[in-house]
Amino acid sequence: MNTNLLDVKNLCTYFYTDEGVVYALDGVSFSVKKGETLGIVGESGSGKSVAALSVMRLVQTPPGKIVSGEVLMNGENLLKLSGKEMRAVRGGKIAMIFQEPMTALNPVYTIGSQIMESPRIHRGLSRRQARRVAIEMLEKVGIPLPEKRVDDYPHQLSGGMRQRAMIAIALCCNPELLICDEPTTALDVTIQAQILELINDLKKEMNTSVLMITHDLGVVAQVSENVLVMYASKVMEYGGVKEVFTDPCHPYTKALLESMPAVESGRERLHVIEGMVPSLSNRPEGCLFHPRCERRMEICKTLRPELIMAPAGRWVRCWLYASGPRTLGSIERG
Ligand SMILES: Nc1ncnc2c1ncn2[C@@H]1O[C@H](COP(=O)(O)OP(=O)(O)OP(=O)(O)O)[C@@H](O)[C@H]1O
Ligand code: SF4
Ligand SMILES: [Mg+2]
Repeated sequence: MNTNLLDVKNLCTYFYTDEGVVYALDGVSFSVKKGETLGIVGESGSGKSVAALSVMRLVQTPPGKIVSGEVLMNGENLLKLSGKEMRAVRGGKIAMIFQEPMTALNPVYTIGSQIMESPRIHRGLSRRQARRVAIEMLEKVGIPLPEKRVDDYPHQLSGGMRQRAMIAIALCCNPELLICDEPTTALDVTIQAQILELINDLKKEMNTSVLMITHDLGVVAQVSENVLVMYASKVMEYGGVKEVFTDPCHPYTKALLESMPAVESGRERLHVIEGMVPSLSNRPEGCLFHPRCERRMEICKTLRPELIMAPAGRWVRCWLYASGPRTLGSIERG
């Protein structure tokens, strides 16, 4: 029996711009079980946010378009729902929190009325009942004096408190899936740790599944069971977070881990990945990572590797792990 809450299959999302087609997401697949957290990591521009927006069907159209694939939630393909049905899923079964709460919070409404909106629409609660829920939620996310704060406007709260308020809005309908896109990047380290703990506690209490998108591999290690490593629109490595981080297979995952600042040892950066993420409207041939890869072989320059199950028990997209031909010579020989 499939116990996955979310199955994303072969998702492709492109942007049709004046400069050409931007292949932002190209054949991306992953799954999230009930109550599990999947971390999505990768450098800037690798397609992490587009993946989240595609699941929510919030890709800006035009210029964007989900061109193929499936987003199955409890087996139902969200890409086939009507606009009205999808609006009920958003704010009901799926909620999202962003890096910058001010983009999600409406400055002209109080925090309370913004939390109350969803329980009133999705659960049919009266104003009074919804206000009670809002106060309880503010208390749950650790906002002091919730009876008073419920009538505050977003600008009256500090950055950390605004982030908590956004989490309260996201969680007040008890979503099955919470998507967090860089939820703590704008916050200082102490508040960041508190917010992550809060998301983790709420996840355990409500058995919510979480998609945690971040640049910060430390955050992923702390909160996720599995990790998806993305590079230039594609999945490069996908598996258990402990296994991937202690014994990475893909040269890109290795390079990402080596480029993490080692705070505890007092060193700044150990290693910088040379070169840049390619333009997604003009991607290199062969392996997308080949111009920057220290282990590049001839085959890597011309043939795209597929995502395969490596002997280490996880998905890897790299010719080093493919059982097929390893050199162009052997391909030419058939
Ligand atoms: N509205 C848009 N129009 C054109 N291209 C877009 C649009 N939105 C995203 N893209 C492109 O899609 C690609 C993936 O972007 P995305 O925002 O998903 O990256 P990301 O991994 O979330 O990066 P970051 O870590 O900086 O948030 C980028 O090349 C980006 O330029
Ligand atoms: S396929 Fe080749 S270039 Fe790409 S990551 Fe593997 S070794 Fe490096
Ligand atoms: Mg992003």
